[in-house]
Order: sequence, then structure tokens, then C-alpha cells
Amino acid sequence: MSSNQSNTAGGGRLKSLGAWVDARFPMTALWKEHMSEYDAPKNFNFWYYFGSIAIFVLALQIFTGIFLTMSYKPSDIEAFGSVEYIMRDVEWGWLIRYLHSTGASAFFIVVYLHMFRALLYGSHRKPRELLWIFGVLIYLALMAEAFMGYLLPWGNMSYWGAQVIVSLFGTFPWIGDALVEWIRGDYYISDITLNRFFALHVVAVPLVLIFLVVAHILALHEVGSNNPDGIEIKKTKGPDGRPLDGVAMHPYYTVKDIYGLSIFLVLFAAVVFFAPELGGFFLEAANFEPANPLLTPEHIAPVWYFTPYYAMLRAVPAFAGTQVWGVLVMFSAILVLFFAPWLDRAPVKSIRYRGPIYKVALMLFAAAFIMLGYCGMKPAEQPFKAMSVIGTIYYFAFFLLMPWYSRIDSHKPVPSRVTS
Ligand code: HEM
Repeated sequence: MSSNQSNTAGGGRLKSLGAWVDARFPMTALWKEHMSEYDAPKNFNFWYYFGSIAIFVLALQIFTGIFLTMSYKPSDIEAFGSVEYIMRDVEWGWLIRYLHSTGASAFFIVVYLHMFRALLYGSHRKPRELLWIFGVLIYLALMAEAFMGYLLPWGNMSYWGAQVIVSLFGTFPWIGDALVEWIRGDYYISDITLNRFFALHVVAVPLVLIFLVVAHILALHEVGSNNPDGIEIKKTKGPDGRPLDGVAMHPYYTVKDIYGLSIFLVLFAAVVFFAPELGGFFLEAANFEPANPLLTPEHIAPVWYFTPYYAMLRAVPAFAGTQVWGVLVMFSAILVLFFAPWLDRAPVKSIRYRGPIYKVALMLFAAAFIMLGYCGMKPAEQPFKAMSVIGTIYYFAFFLLMPWYSRIDSHKPVPSRVTS
């Protein structure tokens, strides 16, 4: 048999295997619906890389997490030592651990940029409200995942960070003390707490995350992607019934996303190999000491991705001896995100066609969020306290005044077809 003939025979066998599967499972139909015949707007730019990068980072965290779990011991006596063992004795253990710890911070960087893109182009607005709500739920699950993962190395900052954050629930009137005890499973952060955080971090929350990401993408594919012009491409279809301004997800955007992912991987590898602690931002110095209930670290601060909310918590002074108002402000900062699609009343979606008020408001919002993050890393003293108050007020003003300023803002005419 010539090589051409054997290739055709091989191709024929693969085809009949495909047909066999298709008769039992919608493999080709799913591939067509979500990849080769999913029409995405042809004008995606830099900001559209982060969704696929987030999927990659989620897969990386699950993959490296499985390998860490093979050598990690979730007990107060052994946890810290088992992480040191992974770093020093397990073959390639240091790499797996640094991929996982850097992956956690990278996840938040990618997700923050991904969320900011929605605010730039109005991607969260009608008809994509549910897609956005799934996104905010993913963000919440991600925070829970990172918070519980941080306790696992059982370093001194793990211990005291968990101590401070869990005790915040104690500020709620009546139920506070019982709630804190229920979360910890004990009268203090103990072996029991570590064990349940391990179960939640390794099994429960990843399952929730996977479910939410699938729902997020199904919701996106139901309504179709937005784009930097904020135009609905489904409104202008060709004679074949497909959007004139769309291109198939595969191969056009799979190739583009591989390019974006490659650049991300270069930056990611640079951190993993040359600066895995990133000057204390990604791994804090206090966490290289084992947990010590008798020794509080000098400054207790959460990891950078939580510090904007930590600054908001500290911006609110204790009234009548309770910090509950600060806690409520902190939770409201996330709650308000759910309502963002309905708060924005501008007649156009994309920042390209919006007026100066939204442009300035959004840039100041990004600046305020970064400023809050910076203040949350600093000790609770002046001028950081005052800056936190200003940042917190601005954060809420941005959302709560949006129904008013988005309506009075000017806007430019939106073209009927996407621009490149
Ligand atoms: C694990 C985390 C996440 C993953 C894996 C993920 C995945 C994706 C993917 C693959 C897309 C399509 C490609 C793209 O537009 O970049 C997308 C779109 C979108 N995501 Fe996410 N996402 C995540 C988190 C979030 C969060 C936290 C939010 C907001 C709170 C969000 C809001 C959106 C919106 C509004 C779109 C539509 C964008 C558009 O069509 O312009 N996502 N997401």
C-alpha cells in the first residue's frame, strides 16, 4: 500500500470513529456551535485575550494543585514542614509550588483586567447581564478559593490573616460569635479549621468554579460576544444568515489567543523562575515562618489582591465599639458589582462613543482601586487612612451615581458596522 493510500485509510477510520461517537454524543455539534461556527466579532483587541488566559490559569491551578496535594499534609503539625519538603525534596516540587503560588496572583491580575474590559466596552450591559452575574460569582468563588488556600502552608501570615478575616464575621450582632465558631469549627484557628479549608480549597470551591465558568461561557455563546465598538453584530447578517462582522472562533481566535497566551507565559515564567516572591507581593516574608499563635506579625495585611477591600474595611471607623459597619462596607463593595448592568443608563455601550464624564469617571475608578490596594498594604495610619476614606467614597460614588451621570453625559453616534 502506498503512503497516500494508508493515509486515506487512516483518515477514513478516524472519520468512522467520529461518526460512531457522534451517533452517541454531540461531539461535532458542540465543536461547531462553540468553536468552528461560533461567530465572534472581527474587531477583538488586546482586552479580549484575558478570558482565554483565565481559562488557562484555572486549568494550571487545578493541574498543579493535584500534584501539590500528593505531598501536602493538611495538619497543624505537618503542614508547614510538608510545604518545605515539597520545595526541597520532591522532584520538581519547587516548580509546581511556584507555578501554583504565582498562578494565584496571575489569576487575579487577569480577572481584574477582564472585568475592567467589561466596564470599558459595556460588555456587562443588556443582553449580557446574566453573563456578568456569573462573572461576579466567579470572582467571589475565586476570593474564597484564594483565602482558604492561603491558610494551607500554615505560615505565620496564613495563621494571622485567617484569624483577622474570620473574626470579622464576629462583628455581626447576635449571631457573630456563633458564626465565627461555625466557620473555624473550633474556638480558635486550629487543625480542624485547616482540615476543612483544605477540603473546601481542593474539592468544593474548584467544582463550583468549573461549574460557574461553564455557565459563564454558555451564557456568552447564547447572546454572542460584545466588542470594542459595543455593537451587536447579530443585527447585520449576510445572505447565509451569519453576521457580516463576525469571524469563526476557530481557527481565527484560537490562533490569536495562542499568541496572547504565549506572551502571558513569557511574563509568567519570568516571575516563576526569577522572582517567585515578587518582593513580598506574591509570597510574604512572614509566611516563611511557621504559624505561631503567640507571635503576631508586625503588620498583618492580606495578599495584594484583597488589599483594596481591606483598606475599605479600615476606612470606616468603629462606631459604638463595633467594626460591623466597616465589614458591611467591604461586603457591599462586592455586592454593588452585581447591579452594575442596571446602574449604567447611557444610550451607548463602548467607551469609544461615550462622553467625557464616563471616561474620566472610569479612569479615576481604576486609580482609586489601585490606591485602595496600596493603602491596604500600609499600616493603618495617616495619610493612608485619609486616602482610604477618599478611595472608598469614590468607589461607591462611581457606581451609585452612575444612573445620574451616565444619563447626562454626552455621546457620539455609533456606526452601524464594527470599525477595525
Ligand atoms: C475564572 C474566571 C473567568 C474565566 C475563565 C472567564 C472566561 C471568559 C471567556 C473565555 C470569555 C470570552 C472571551 C473574552 O471575552 O475574553 C469571557 C467573557 C466575559 N466575561 Fe469572563 N471569565 C472569568 C471571570 C469573569 C469575571 C470575574 C467577570 C466579571 C465580573 C467576567 C465577565 C465577562 C464578560 C462581561 C464577558 C463578555 C465580554 C464581551 O463579550 O465583551 N468574567 N469570560
